[in-house]
Amino acid sequence: MIIAANLKTNLTRIKTTKYINEVESFLKKNNISQEVLVFPATSSLNLHSGSVVVGAQNAYPTINGAFTGEIGYEQLEEFNIKTILIGHSERRHLLGEAQEKLVEKFNFYKNLGFKIIFCVGEPIEVREEGFESMMEYISKQYEGIDTLYENLVIAYEPVWAIGTGLTPTSEDIVAIHQELKKKSQAPLLYGGSVKVTNAAEVLALEGVDGILVGSAALYAEHFCTMCQYA
Ligand code: G3H
Repeated sequence: MIIAANLKTNLTRIKTTKYINEVESFLKKNNISQEVLVFPATSSLNLHSGSVVVGAQNAYPTINGAFTGEIGYEQLEEFNIKTILIGHSERRHLLGEAQEKLVEKFNFYKNLGFKIIFCVGEPIEVREEGFESMMEYISKQYEGIDTLYENLVIAYEPVWAIGTGLTPTSEDIVAIHQELKKKSQAPLLYGGSVKVTNAAEVLALEGVDGILVGSAALYAEHFCTMCQYA
């Protein structure tokens, strides 16, 4: 199982240090050997840990260069970051990242051997069109991605479930994951309003290889409990 926390633009470096230390000691104390990933804000990327893997929420497909506001491989390498999220819904929809750019990022960081958590998921209007439309939409998000890449992890996150408290039914998650497994055998995470009260149920579903948690992971205690469920 992979348990991942996406801290987005939350927590200062001081708070993230405390957070990672807390998670780290919890895992140690409870002998938890699941793969635990934390994606903090860029200002906390230098927070190394033992068993908690620190990853980047985004990076530009470049070693370095004139890309104002971005971070490149050189900066990630300095902090020994080898894990990256690509295509999170907030980057696709709020920041307008197109599939072509995501594919460029994917190829760039794949060639450097990064573990890539590639996010897919449909907005509500597509969801409402039915299962077939939804799968068609998600299939397009796989276009150009090497689905056989050995360091690939897919995160299925319905856009309408992110930060809303809404989740698909368990049956829906199983059905979608079943379809997505046909596209890639890579570990498949579910994300979207996972919290302490539903994490165990989600983790137990067929085809779910882990969770990617946003808001509920901001509390180390809650995130630790979810790690324990895994
Ligand atoms: O990357 C995490 C997802 O955006 C889920 O966020 O747990 O706040 O719904 P959420």
